[in-house]
Order: sequence, then C-alpha cells, then structure tokens
Amino acid sequence: MGNVVVVGSQWGDEGKGKIVDILAREADVIVRFQGGSNAGHTVVTPRGTFVFHLLPSGILSRGKHCVLGSGVVIDPGALIAELDQLAERGTKVGRNFAISQRAHLIMPYHKAIDKAAEKAKGARRIGTTGKGIGPAYVDKMARIGIRVGDLINPERFREKVESNLVEINGFLRHVHGTRGFTAGRICEEYLEYGQRLAPYVTDDSLLIHKAMENGRRVLFEGAQGTHLDVDLGTYPFVTSSNACAGGACTGGVGPTKIDAVLGVTKAYTTRVGSGPFPTELSDEVGSGLQERGQETGATTGRARRCGWLDAMVLRYAVRVNGCTALAVTKLDVLDEVSELKIAVGYRFQGKLYREMPVDLQVLENCEPVYETLPGWAGTTTGVTNYKALPVEAKNYLRRIEALTACPVSIVSTGSHREHTIMLDNPMMYTRSRGARSRMGVSGAVASRRRLPRGEASRLTTIRPVVSVTTKAE
Ligand code: GDP
Ligand code: IMO
Ligand code: MG
Repeated sequence: MGNVVVVGSQWGDEGKGKIVDILAREADVIVRFQGGSNAGHTVVTPRGTFVFHLLPSGILSRGKHCVLGSGVVIDPGALIAELDQLAERGTKVGRNFAISQRAHLIMPYHKAIDKAAEKAKGARRIGTTGKGIGPAYVDKMARIGIRVGDLINPERFREKVESNLVEINGFLRHVHGTRGFTAGRICEEYLEYGQRLAPYVTDDSLLIHKAMENGRRVLFEGAQGTHLDVDLGTYPFVTSSNACAGGACTGGVGPTKIDAVLGVTKAYTTRVGSGPFPTELSDEVGSGLQERGQETGATTGRARRCGWLDAMVLRYAVRVNGCTALAVTKLDVLDEVSELKIAVGYRFQGKLYREMPVDLQVLENCEPVYETLPGWAGTTTGVTNYKALPVEAKNYLRRIEALTACPVSIVSTGSHREHTIMLDNPMMYTRSRGARSRMGVSGAVASRRRLPRGEASRLTTIRPVVSVTTKAE
C-alpha cells in the first residue's frame, strides 16, 4: 500500500527533488528508477542545499532504504563522489543503500561519444548534458552494455571492456576523429570503483518485492520529465530512458503494485537544451521568470528557457502517466506577474489542436491558443495554508485541475521544505486489490482518502477567466 511514482510532467526540473524529499518521510523505500547523472534534484534543508544527481532524494531521511534501480545508468565515479560529498556533510550511507546488479554502467567512452556526437550534429544537436547517457542506453539495447554486476566480477568485466573497445575505438577514431581508450586504464579505474561499491550491489527487484510484501511503502523517483521520455517525449529532443511512470515498472515491479502517480508540475514551463517549446517567452516576461525562478540548470549550469504554463503538455502528462494527482511547484515565482497565460490549444496551418500533437513539425511551428487569467496582488511566497493563498492564485490552481482533469494535491510556494501546502498526501493513497470478480476487475477501483476539508477537493468547472488569445496577438 502507498506505493507512489513521482514523475516530472514537463521537460524536467519541476521540483521533483523537493517533493520526493517531503514524501520520503512517509515512505520506507525510495527508488530512483531511470536516467543517470544527467539529473539534478535539489533539496533545500536547514543543513544547506543538496543537489542529487544519482542518489535518491530521500537519502537525507533517516532510517529509509534508498535504491538505484535497474533502469538507471550509473557513472560509478560520479556516484562515489556524491557519496563522499554526502559523508563530508554528515550523512553516511551504509546498509540503507542498494544498487541494482542489473543497472548499466556509464563508461568513459560513452561520455566521449556523447560529446563527439553532439558536436557532429551541429545545429541539430540535442543539447545533452554530456554525461554519456544516450550512448550507455544504446549499448544496453545493443546488448553490449556492462552492468553493475560485472563490475564486481573482475575477469568478466575485463573481457567485456576489451571486446567492446575493438569496435568502439574504431568508431571514435574513424568516425569522430577522436582518441580511443585502453582497456587496462579503464579496468584499473573501474575495478577500484567496484571494490568500493560491492557492499551495496543487490537484486533490487527482490528487495523491493520483499519490502512491499511486508507492507512497506515504496516511493519511486523519476528523473527528467514526461516530454523528455524516449518514447513519449518530443523525440528526438529527449533523453534516452523512459522517464514516464511506466519506467518504474520495467525494473521488476509490476504495474499492479503501484497505487498512485504524482505528476510534478512547475506553475509555468521551463526547458533546458534544444527542442520545441510552444509557450516559450523570449521577452522580458520570460527573463523575469528566469530570474525570479533562478532557472539555471542544477547539473550543467545552463540557463533554462522559460515560458507560460502549457495545459496541452500537462494534460498529455496526466494521460500517459495515469497521474492520480499533481504537485504544483514554484507558484511563488508568479507573484509579480500581473497577467497569466495558460496554453489550452495549438493552431497550425488553420487546424486547432486540442491534444498534444505527436508530429514535431506541428509543435515547432504552432501558435499556442492562450487563456488569460489575472495575476494576484498579494503574495504566495512561503504560504503554508491553502486558505491564505490569494483568490486569483486559487483560481489558477483550479484552472489547472479543470484543464488536466487531475486534482492538485501539493502546492509548493518556496524551495524550503516548510513552504509547502499538503492538501492530500499521495503516500496515503491506496488502491484496493480485491479478487477479480466474474463480472470484471472489482479490485482495481481507486479509493481516495477523503480530504479533511471540502475546499481541498476542488475539481471544478471554473470558467476561463478573462480571454482567449493567440501568441501573435
Ligand atoms: P528537479 O530536477 O525536478 O528535482 O528540479 P531542480 O532541483 O532541478 O529544479 C527546481 C529548482 O526550484 C530547485 O532550485 C529548487 O530548490 C527550486 N524549487 C522547488 N520548489 C520551489 C518552489 O516552490 N518555489 C521556488 N521559488 N523554488 C522552488
Ligand atoms: P532532472 O531529473 C532537465 C535534457 C538535456 C537535453 C536532453 C538530453 O533534473 O529533471 P541527456 O544528457 O539526458 O542525453 O540530454 O535532456 N535533460 C534534462 N533537462 N532536467 C533533467 O533532469 C534533464 N536530464 C536531461 O538538457 O536537452
Ligand atoms: Mg533538475
């Protein structure tokens, strides 16, 4: 019961780290299920700010098990650096940490290929983080990947590295004109990492299964976001893993074990790297959001592109993830914006799109159709009580619920833990799992914990507030 998947519903950096850190208090096990050190999840605590790239954001909560699942691609050097930095800041990781034996390793040649491929693409580059993510997943699918389990078997590891380098060095030298790698050097470095990480290596599927059997709550932490998912995102401007909720299940946890899916959503939209972004603002409103939201990448330090909230993006995320609730973050950043816009459709070549188009050509060239809502005169910054929000801010949240047909369970009004309005804790959400009835599946009906206050259950039919305009106007 209470097994929850947290995903980003936009293009990453929605504030997943903050939300996972908070929900971790109610969880027993926290599992990062995909991606690698391309992620940067920020957790602000009284002890200072932590940015996690690989470690689950629940690692700061005492007495919790933290797991790197089989869908994660692990740069062992980066992981050890993160563990060491954490230890220096007073959090020692021990038996509460586990790494999947099946997780694939990021090798030095993956980073070299990532950078060389981006350079070769020129103007059509993806704008990757350069962490070797894509090439590591390519090797996994090509069945030449090297897994964490291999790292603790020196003979097998050496054989695999030597065999891979025959092809990879040829590719690097002849296609990209860069230097190759020597097996000896890689083995020396990586086998040392292996010794250090060996105590944590385990069969994560079994660990999670046993935890669930014992009634423990498991929180799955997604990295990146829905629209960066390799299958469901704005391909090819995506990452190379399944960042959507389904990705939590490819690691050996069946979909029937998941109780709830929480989509984390910024109150506006950002994107790092290349790719379509229909509501992007290149004016002073966009730069205002960038500045007030401190929208600088936690991993690469690049400025994030900023724009209006896009309900097309969110509605799609709710659909493909099966979101049971949303967490809306960074509402406070909109405090000084006098008029707010939400995209509710796209117009392209005379056609009005009401659902997220699959065709990139549409996304790259469409005009968003906007609804305009009034901003608020008061402040939401640091507000911890829903009732204390300005009425316009409540209307903005209600409009998000109506446009996505998904309730908002959490509202975040600042980067600190306490700057949070918890309307309905997703960790308390359980699905009954009764036996199949002869008439159908009786147990699959979701049972939502009743909210203490009528006000919190707010899926309403609020009207579009002011007017509908297009980008050109
Ligand atoms: P993640 O990758 O989804 O975990 O998000 P990031 O950590 O990359 O980026 C989110 C940024 O916004 C971090 O700097 C957070 O500290 C910050 N943040 C999270 N929630 C809020 C909020 O409600 N208000 C403000 N102002 N900042 C927030
Ligand atoms: P978190 O978990 C935002 C983006 C990169 C690039 C594309 C592919 O912090 O939300 P990759 O290195 O994965 O091959 O890059 O994906 N990207 C992210 N953008 N947040 C992230 O993670 C991201 N991880 C990758 O900028 O456009
Ligand atoms: Mg981030």
